[in-house]
Amino acid sequence: MKINGTHYRTIWLKEGNPDVLQAIDQRYLPHEFHIEDMRTVEEVARAIREMHLRGAPLIGSAAAYGLYLALLSPPEGLSNIWEYISSSAQLLLDTRPTAANLAHAVGRVLAVVEKEDKLAGMTDAALREANKIAEESVQHCRLIGQHGLELIRDISKKKKGKTVHILTHCNAGWLACIDYGTATAPIYAAHDAGISLHVWVDETRPRNQGSNLTAFELLQHGVPHTVITDNTGGHLMQHGKVDMVLVGSDRTTRRGDVANKVGTYLKALAAKDNEVPFFVALPSSSFDFSLRDGLREIPIEERNPDEVSYVFGWFNGKIYKVRISPQGSPAANYAFDVTPARLVTGLITERGICRASERSILKMFPEAK
Ligand code: MRU
Repeated sequence: MKINGTHYRTIWLKEGNPDVLQAIDQRYLPHEFHIEDMRTVEEVARAIREMHLRGAPLIGSAAAYGLYLALLSPPEGLSNIWEYISSSAQLLLDTRPTAANLAHAVGRVLAVVEKEDKLAGMTDAALREANKIAEESVQHCRLIGQHGLELIRDISKKKKGKTVHILTHCNAGWLACIDYGTATAPIYAAHDAGISLHVWVDETRPRNQGSNLTAFELLQHGVPHTVITDNTGGHLMQHGKVDMVLVGSDRTTRRGDVANKVGTYLKALAAKDNEVPFFVALPSSSFDFSLRDGLREIPIEERNPDEVSYVFGWFNGKIYKVRISPQGSPAANYAFDVTPARLVTGLITERGICRASERSILKMFPEAK
């Protein structure tokens, strides 16, 4: 993905110094471009918890590199390396509870580290696995783009080449992944294939991932888009102005219940009522095949209520934080919600498109049976 003409991924090891993990610090986008250096597992955990970087695939990759950094510089006089590795893993797992990719990545790194008996071997194995997870994420997102492109092409054909209007929520873009994005990958592929499209971008309160990040990405890629408030989608759907809803997922169960940024469920309800197809794009690392009932079983992160009571904005070259509700009014900040499988038209994965049902999902991922 390009920013002002330069190709970036969201996370990488510093050129010439693989002891330093670097990532785009997303707190400042779209107004400022900052790269953060991380040298310890604690710094990585903090960056995930405080959302310097965010999005399910990206926090998975960051956690994998976090374990590598933990092994690179263990505390002096360490008596039990396994205790240290498992407490580092726990530190990362505790940062954000909803996205499946985090536990998935940490589990993969632990599995390769456990096969080694010397610190140097463990560190190398952790790095190799972290690189592999990041590379796989890029390839999976690219493939999601190719599969999703065909859906958009079909809609475009049905509309005889008239502009396809896609509504998306939050940022399931390359900033949420390593490159391409999940929900945005088909959008970029369709745009690059010359299909006329336009994206309705939900601003996505309280953190504004839509207006801050998705709009930034689309602008960089030259994709026509319009930022709307989170409550506008239903109105647009009632008036035939949305051809497809396309979102990402933080965790999807084996029967197709989808956890994604809070507000996704309301979009799915409106889509159902207006017969607008509602698609979810996700890599296999966002499935949690151990769960069935998303509503009962997926843990929903509750974040600091200050994110609801205050907003950040750019004025005269500076970022300001301003209060938007009375000092005395409490706020609640549920970060995700669950869209039941019955409201989901289809899942776009790296292996192809399937229905949101246990049968269809397991047919595509037979190893999860
Ligand atoms: O709280 P965030 O910004 O990490 O939430 C991100 C989302 O909800 C995305 O839609 C999801 O991670 C899918 S990303 C490809």
